[in-house]
Amino acid sequence: MEHTPPRKVEHQQTDRGYVPVYATGVVEQPWDSYSATDHEVWNTLYARQCKLLPGRACQEFLDGLARFGMGEKGIPKFSELNEVLTAATGWQIVAVEGLLPDEVFFDHLANRRFPVSWWIRKPDQLDYLSEPDLFHDLFGHVPLLLNPVFADYMQAYGRGGMKAFGIGPEALMNLTRLYWYTVEFGLIDTPDGLRIYGAGIVSSKGESIYCLDSEAPNRIGFDLERVMNTRYRIDSYQQTYFVIDSFEQLFEATTPDFTPIYARLAARPPHAAGDVLDTSDRVFNYGTREGWATNADT
Ligand SMILES: [Fe+2]
Repeated sequence: MEHTPPRKVEHQQTDRGYVPVYATGVVEQPWDSYSATDHEVWNTLYARQCKLLPGRACQEFLDGLARFGMGEKGIPKFSELNEVLTAATGWQIVAVEGLLPDEVFFDHLANRRFPVSWWIRKPDQLDYLSEPDLFHDLFGHVPLLLNPVFADYMQAYGRGGMKAFGIGPEALMNLTRLYWYTVEFGLIDTPDGLRIYGAGIVSSKGESIYCLDSEAPNRIGFDLERVMNTRYRIDSYQQTYFVIDSFEQLFEATTPDFTPIYARLAARPPHAAGDVLDTSDRVFNYGTREGWATNADT
């Protein structure tokens, strides 16, 4: 799908001042308006995760972080990160106000643009935030966009999303689960043991520890249709993490047209977030279910 450049329509008052808003929802990163507190929040979160992630996050993620030269020197400028990112994989970061409608989000990914919320959480929200902010979007998602295979996977996901959007809400739900259990909460098996690549995990101190160290959650080998048919938690740590063998496996599994998969899945009831399928799952850890909430999955 051809993308027309963002068209400036008006300035809008936001909680960060008078920000130019474009027809597509893309804004300029209002870097000069970040407060000392904003930069401090970034530094605190950055330092905390960087201390925790070696030996937990996959090497590709850690390499990406290092290559961008992000650090404890305040909120990075997207324009500077883009010089590195675009040269490496043709991706670019665009600043947005927050969560986007599905079709707008898919269009960005399909065109190798990753939307990043330009605002950062407040000091009393270091541990939990219900919507994605700059730290989650940038620190969590952007380092892996330097990995060519993962970068291609993200674009393919965007293209798949555009297609699913045309098929219907159930197809979209199947695809959302795939994103959730890979891009947000994925683990990868390496010769050194399981490692994190999901953005929802690497941007969370508590879940960076829980997902690998706790016996409570299931850790199960990635299987495309299994994942697309599994509900998830939005109110707590995940009950199940799916483990890929490599980014190549992920990319190749998602290359075929999903249309027949959506048709098959429509006839099957979804699995609960904490289910283990004894006959077919490749189980790395059979969760003890300790501390699991009993209310409904998403
Ligand atoms: Fe995210």
